[in-house]
Amino acid sequence: MSSKNNPTTAGKLTAVLGLNWGDEGKGKLVDILAGKSQFVARFGGGANAGHTIVANGKKVILHQLPSGVLHPQTKNVIGNGCVVHLPTLIEEISELEKIGVNLTGRLFLSNRATILFDFHKELDGLAESKAKQKIGTTKRGIGPAYSDRVNRKSLRLGDLQNFENFAVKLRERLEEVNAIAGMPFRFDEGREINLYKDFAERLNGMIVDTSELLQTALRDGKTVLAEGAQGSLLDIDHGTFPFVTSSTTTAGNIFSGLGIPPQTLESIGVAKAYTTRVGEGPFTTELENKTGEKLRDIGAEFGATTGRPRRCGWMDLVATKYSAQLNGTTVINLTKLDVLNDFEEIQTCVKYKLDGEEIYTLPATIEELERVEPVFETLPGWQSDTSEIREIKKLPKNAQNYIAFIERYLDIPVKWVGVGVEREAMAV
Ligand code: GDP
Ligand code: IMO
Ligand code: MG
Repeated sequence: MSSKNNPTTAGKLTAVLGLNWGDEGKGKLVDILAGKSQFVARFGGGANAGHTIVANGKKVILHQLPSGVLHPQTKNVIGNGCVVHLPTLIEEISELEKIGVNLTGRLFLSNRATILFDFHKELDGLAESKAKQKIGTTKRGIGPAYSDRVNRKSLRLGDLQNFENFAVKLRERLEEVNAIAGMPFRFDEGREINLYKDFAERLNGMIVDTSELLQTALRDGKTVLAEGAQGSLLDIDHGTFPFVTSSTTTAGNIFSGLGIPPQTLESIGVAKAYTTRVGEGPFTTELENKTGEKLRDIGAEFGATTGRPRRCGWMDLVATKYSAQLNGTTVINLTKLDVLNDFEEIQTCVKYKLDGEEIYTLPATIEELERVEPVFETLPGWQSDTSEIREIKKLPKNAQNYIAFIERYLDIPVKWVGVGVEREAMAV
């Protein structure tokens, strides 16, 4: 029996986490599973995410809102681990209203979440333009907003509930920002404060203690889906540092970023049947040739947030296993299998060579990561259409062999296989 002080809950916690460098197709799976979840909750990141859902012939790209929004009975939570840019959030809410999606009474924002201001975006752009070694950020202000949080300078959503104090704190912070040497812009304190007065009124009632909300939900036997943003290889500690984002994107942050106690977790890992990466940084299996271009063309690999072309390469099982182990992945969603339909042969990276030595995990330093060479295994393609297939056992033999190879290597079952962009295009 569960009690208030016992972390063993009657409810069910499931996570959907990307196993590579983001854009694995998390949004599509979250939308599918949200139909049977009472809550969908984001625990980290901000508007750097771009999660695509294609349902009933409509394409929706979500940046900050959880991917449960299209299901009218599902409640959506933006947790304390997130950095929230309110103009973007309000625009997203309005865009959804235009297509008949109403979030009244089913969107909850943590009163402990960090507010990401326009000045954070400007600082992000400025840092990138000045840096010798660019990260290739989304310029959404993520690094500066998380820096302010660890520096204890942030304003949080809960501050909006005492607007007089909020105005004083924002004025002080903007004065500091305006005084940074070499700043090419200046923020009008009065204008910003008025803008946030409007936001505070609009969001009134949505800003709550979401940890309490989720703790109660889990105790009461509800299902909560934790939606990962970014990918595990972009994790601030475990990713390909420094070419990473500024948050913890792996499973450990679910508990801290939502304010719930550690508990049993069904950890779903999402991995593309090949690999992509946006921005700078090492990418061991990258194909800077016609094959890479073919993957980008067929897979429509352009960033959902910035529109940048995504770098493409073969599946990297070493990196995927590394992420799966960090996340305690129990089951896999392999996505975009259909993109490989036309390939005669498919390669997958099964080990690395570093300075002549074979290794089976990701080295920690950027210098080593940049020297790593992939060792591939080649598998035959299936060269037939899979887009209408809805059962894994009905996929072409060679496609099934490819999936079985991945399952054996990772020692984790593949339960869903993506075969197209639409909500229905999933073989199970
Ligand atoms: P996320 O950030 O992990 O949610 O993924 P994105 O939405 O950024 O990128 C995934 C892209 O692949 C989107 O354009 C999806 O519509 C698309 N997609 C997802 N699953 C599949 C699939 O199984 N097949 C194909 N062809 N496209 C897919
Ligand atoms: P979703 O949730 C892919 C990448 C950026 C850059 C690095 C740091 O859609 O999978 P940041 O703006 O976070 O400081 O950028 O991280 N990046 C993503 N790449 N998908 C994402 O999100 C990403 N979020 C950040 O391209 O390389
Ligand atoms: Mg994305």
